Amino acid sequence: MKPLLPSDASNTMTMQISDIPEVTQDPGRRENDRGLELVRHAPCGTEILNVDLTRELDEERFRVIMDIWHRDHVVVFRDQILESEDQLRFGRRIGELSVIHTQEFSGEDPAIMYISNVKEDGAFVHALPIGEMMFHIDQCYKPNPAKASILYAMEIPKAGGNTLFCDATAAYDALDDETKARLDGLRALNLYDYDAAATHTAAEVSDDAPSHEHPVVRTHPATGRKSLFINRLMTRSILGMDREQSQALLDQLFDHLENPAFVYEHRWRLGDLLMWDNRCTLHARRDFNPEEQRILRRLTVQGETPA
Ligand code: SIN
Repeated sequence: MKPLLPSDASNTMTMQISDIPEVTQDPGRRENDRGLELVRHAPCGTEILNVDLTRELDEERFRVIMDIWHRDHVVVFRDQILESEDQLRFGRRIGELSVIHTQEFSGEDPAIMYISNVKEDGAFVHALPIGEMMFHIDQCYKPNPAKASILYAMEIPKAGGNTLFCDATAAYDALDDETKARLDGLRALNLYDYDAAATHTAAEVSDDAPSHEHPVVRTHPATGRKSLFINRLMTRSILGMDREQSQALLDQLFDHLENPAFVYEHRWRLGDLLMWDNRCTLHARRDFNPEEQRILRRLTVQGETPA
């Protein structure tokens, strides 16, 4: 194991999702976009009310959904009754599905992962079973991090377990010019040690935990917009800076990203199919009662090399 954080320079170790006040659900703005009934939330996140994902989407409808997703970063299809095959078919329209690396958690297809607190013989059998989870970006510790993650709510607790999405494009746009200039060209090391630090950063991580360097600011290939591409759970250091300097800058950026002004808080309903864009959002999870069952079925879609 190697220590990666300075002992006294970081608020990373102590920061909790519960420190972030619950973001009040805005009622959203109702709109009709080329035949789709939408409820748009601020700063990101749009409900799509009149699509049935058990049916193959025609080209035009699919294109409209992709436009909305690129613009709003998170889309939620309400009231879906989906078998794994339906979710897989939709995921394959978005791109090539990733085979999950924690194969012990895979489901009926190597691309399916269950996030659940189901127990067998007293032990959890799926990934990320309980507790809150710090802000992160799926697979940012790989050369080609996921572009999309697609989560389907199969069972949800009566309260809690909300998933928070940070609009990293809005957060980048809100930086002052001096900070933007300072970040230009910087790269950071992203690392994930599922065993030591699945939901919170740990002071020590395994030497062979997967890791990769990526730009601190990336440009979205579809929209051309810039986003912060770092997160509190998995980004460990900025290259070319000493530890204290790197951690101070990261903590400043993490605090900025996690400002509720940039956060959409999703309160799950049974049958929600939610797809987020990892190239321009971070996500986190609130705690929930571990005695109540929470089961979500997840797919991720492979992305491009961040640039
Ligand atoms: C995840 O980070 O994929 C988990 C999200 C959740 O359980 O709400």
